[in-house]
Amino acid sequence: MPLRVVVLPGDGIGPEVTREAVRVLQALAWAGGVDVRVEEHAIGAAAIRAAGTPLPPDTRDACLEADAVLLGAVGDPAFDHLPPSARPEAGLLALRQALGGFANLRPVVSYGALAGIGPLEAARVEGADILVVRELLGGLYFGEPRGLDPSGLAASNTLRYTQPEIARVAHVAFAEARTRRRRVTSVDKANVLETSQLWRAVVTEVAREYPDVRLDHMYIDACALRLMMEPRHFDVILADNLFGDILSDEAAAVGGSLGLLPSATLGGPVALFEPVHGSAPDLAGRDVANPIGAILCVAMLLRHAAGLTREAGDVASAVTGVLADGLRTADLAGPHTGSIGTRAMGLAIERAVVERVEHRRSYHAV
Ligand code: IPM
Ligand code: MG
Repeated sequence: MPLRVVVLPGDGIGPEVTREAVRVLQALAWAGGVDVRVEEHAIGAAAIRAAGTPLPPDTRDACLEADAVLLGAVGDPAFDHLPPSARPEAGLLALRQALGGFANLRPVVSYGALAGIGPLEAARVEGADILVVRELLGGLYFGEPRGLDPSGLAASNTLRYTQPEIARVAHVAFAEARTRRRRVTSVDKANVLETSQLWRAVVTEVAREYPDVRLDHMYIDACALRLMMEPRHFDVILADNLFGDILSDEAAAVGGSLGLLPSATLGGPVALFEPVHGSAPDLAGRDVANPIGAILCVAMLLRHAAGLTREAGDVASAVTGVLADGLRTADLAGPHTGSIGTRAMGLAIERAVVERVEHRRSYHAV
């Protein structure tokens, strides 16, 4: 059975970065004997333009029948005047709901070759290795009631979490911590919010099932600071939908660039993989975006949706390899270093992946 991957390029730099990710996936298919079938559909602003809605039914149905969904980015300033429910982003939120994945894994590592790139000095970030586990289907993003008052002078959103919603994502965080350094930092605002008090109580309860994992609780504001001051303190960070959204962008400073970060959304029948970055309309169509976040999504896809751990390792190691060789997209280049484009970076990683697969093959053949 082939691995059926639905690709949703979306908006802005989405099509450019997913093109490189698909290139890497297909190179693996060719060199590594992974049987993949890729099919593309519209989402976001691209879908509003083509079909009048940010998540057309055929896109949704194709995703529900796939083994995995690989998404680029959604968002387009042309639709900024619309209410949230009609914007391109509504397509992504509806897709997340349809696919049912509630745990969004956002790994952030400091690459030795990149330490010092980005706002934080090398000595501070070197060796940092963080996994943000973000709750993705609840909280302020989806709470009802919501909306703008008819007066136009007030608006509201609802922050609501239930015990099962918190427990299921907490289990994912603790299980992930067991494969890492066995530490979970749960983030909340329990000094102010009832939802956070419930969050803290439920996470504490779940932790009893994982006595080998160390749990600490941190207020979101303190965590935001600590992440910059002492990123190596963290192993797994467990956060609700909004706090996780904010902290994962902030954590990009530790990795060196937002363009490097992938994510995997698990827990539903079909897993969804999307880079953490947005559609970056100012970079779109210029061959300058960093495709590594999207390419590392392929690594996460191979691991989580296909159980192809070795091939996932080939992709991750190809990325590390090209960075160690000094290849840089514009977001990673210093003011005096040269950079290469989106496509050139994709091609270099593709080559590095094929080399690794072939090396492994010849090694085993001997
Ligand atoms: C992300 C993005 C999305 C989110 C937007 C595009 C709706 O910021 O995946 O982090 O807020 O979840
Ligand atoms: Mg975000």
